[in-house]
Order: sequence, then structure tokens, then C-alpha cells
Amino acid sequence: MTDPRIRDADDGDLDAIARVALATGQDEEWSGSDPAYIRHLLAHGRVVVAEHAGEVAGFGATRRIGSGPAAVTMLCDLFVSPRSHGAGIGQAMLAALWQPGTPRMTFSSLHAHALPLYTRAGLDAWWPLLYLTGDVAALRSPAGWAVSAATAAGAGALERDWTGIDRTADHQAWAARPGGQPVTASRAGQVLAAGTAGGADEEYGIVHLALDPAGTDPGMAGAGGRDGARAADETARDAVLAVLASLDPPDGRARACLPAPHPAVRPLLAAGWRCGDTDLFMTTDPALLDPRRAVPSPALA
Ligand SMILES: CC(C)(COP(=O)(O)OP(=O)(O)OC[C@H]1O[C@@H](n2cnc3c(N)ncnc32)[C@H](O)[C@@H]1OP(=O)(O)O)[C@@H](O)C(=O)NCCC(=O)NCCS
Repeated sequence: MTDPRIRDADDGDLDAIARVALATGQDEEWSGSDPAYIRHLLAHGRVVVAEHAGEVAGFGATRRIGSGPAAVTMLCDLFVSPRSHGAGIGQAMLAALWQPGTPRMTFSSLHAHALPLYTRAGLDAWWPLLYLTGDVAALRSPAGWAVSAATAAGAGALERDWTGIDRTADHQAWAARPGGQPVTASRAGQVLAAGTAGGADEEYGIVHLALDPAGTDPGMAGAGGRDGARAADETARDAVLAVLASLDPPDGRARACLPAPHPAVRPLLAAGWRCGDTDLFMTTDPALLDPRRAVPSPALA
């Protein structure tokens, strides 16, 4: 047996995975210490554990987004117990989870080992993902926009129509989180965005929001040129603001994880929203996520 030994995880590893997650500060709902999150990855992704010196010292997880050769492997988690950091365990799990030559991405933490590890694996760092939190009452829904409750199947079907990728299973899992609610956002009666809000406590907010390219792709938004680009940016911005303004959390506060170049970031900061954590989008191909349009789940994108 080599050390570390990397093997696929199963339900029997939930406690050991939670121990590693807690040792690395992951105590939130929908993180490695939350059995519902790991069970979703066991069912729809791949989870491995690293055994080192007779115990589970790390875990990692991926989720395939899309199908066929263009499918993207999203690294959802990679965590090693602090006393085993720097011993090659992270690298060994990555080698088991990621195939060189395939499209890959992750939201890297700012931990000193993370960026070098992913850079060596062929991914470059492109933009920060900002964890923005604030008061929903400080936001006004943009004129003409309405947000309605939807079903996970409905949000998944709209996203599939727009992107060709079926995320219904993820919308179902997000909808099952505390406060989970799939939504659509429309302007003048036309549905332009679909996603799911949810999460416990400080995690509550937009989990993932997909956009209709007919409204947010400058080439398809009608006007063309600079006016088309501006109109498309405004639609992407307003979809986020409309959904956030529609939320009704018990403490009045919500979260949105946005790429720093997203057009909703500036108005949120202007409304007093604050940036907490920051991750880095790392990828083999920067075209996999458009930072002016994507509203990704940090875990599952
Ligand atoms: C990030 C993490 C998963 C990496 O796992 P690990 O087992 O510590 O990492 P490894 O030992 O396999 O590899 C770390 C690499 O970074 C390199 N490295 C460390 N510090 C570095 C620095 N300042 N500059 C450049 N390279 C550095 C090491 O040399 C090593 O590469 P090498 O093996 O080719 O020499 C682990 O440290 C961890 O759990 N960190 C805390 C939680 C976290 O932030 N996870 C990342 C979520 S995206």
C-alpha cells in the first residue's frame, strides 16, 4: 500500500470527511461537514479520501458539468488536515480527480498551497470571486422586473434551454437547503434569469443564477455595438439586483458570490454591501465562465 492511499469515498466516510472539514474551518452548512452536501456529491459527482498514517487525512470532490468531451470537471473541494499539509496529499487527490487535457476549473481559496498546486496542474488564476453580503432592504428592484417562485425542474429546464447543460439535480439539491427556493426573474413579462436562492444563516442568498443569452449576450440583445454591450450588462446587473431585492431573510441579510467584474458588484457596494471572503477562479480555459455574466455556486459553479 502506498501512502497516501487515495480511494473513492462512500457513506461510511461522512464522519471522517466532516472531521477533516472541521479541522480546516469548514463548519458551515453546505460544506464538507454537512452530510447533505457530501451525499449530493456522492450521488452526482465523485468524492475521494486520502488515507495517511492510518487515518483519513484529506478529502476531495468533483462534479462534471455538461456531457461529452466538452464536459467541465469542477473541483468542488480539496481539504487536508492541517497537521498533514505540505506532504503531497492534496496533489495525490488531485491526480485521482482530474484528467490532464480535459476542461477543468475551481474556485481556489487563498491558502498558500492552493494556487501553486492548481497552477502546476495546468490551471491559471483569472479573477476573484467576491462573497458579498448585505441588507436586502438597501436594494430596490429595478423598474419593470418581477421575481416569481419556480420549481427546481422549471429552473433546470430554463437553464438547459439557455446553456444546453442540465443542472436540474443541482437545483433540486439547492432547493432542499434551508430557505431553498428556485426563482425566475422577468422584465416586462419575459423570463431572463432562473436560479435558486437558499442557504443557512450567513450562507443565505443567491446560490446560482443562469441568464437567457437572448437578453445578456451583446450580439443577441438586439442593439449591437457599444449600446448592445451596455444593455446586456444592465440586464445581467438588474437580474441579480431584482432577485436579491425579492428575498425576505429573517435577519434581512443575504449573500451573492459574484465575479469581481460582474456589473452587479458596483451597485451592491454602493448600497453598503460588503465583501467578505474572496476565492480565485482558476481554469484550463477562461471561456468556461464569463465573469460579467456568471453567478456561480462557489462549490458546484
Ligand atoms: C490546499 C491544500 C488542499 C493542499 O494540500 P496539501 O496536501 O497541503 O498540498 P501538497 O503538499 O500536495 O502540495 C502543495 C504544493 O504547494 C507548494 N507550495 C507551498 N507553498 C508554496 C508557496 N508559497 N509558493 C509556491 N509553492 C508553494 C508545495 O511545494 C507543494 O508543491 P510540491 O509538492 O510540488 O512541492 C491543503 O493545504 C489545505 O487543505 N489547505 C487548507 C484548506 C484550503 O484552503 N483548501 C483549498 C480549497 S480550494
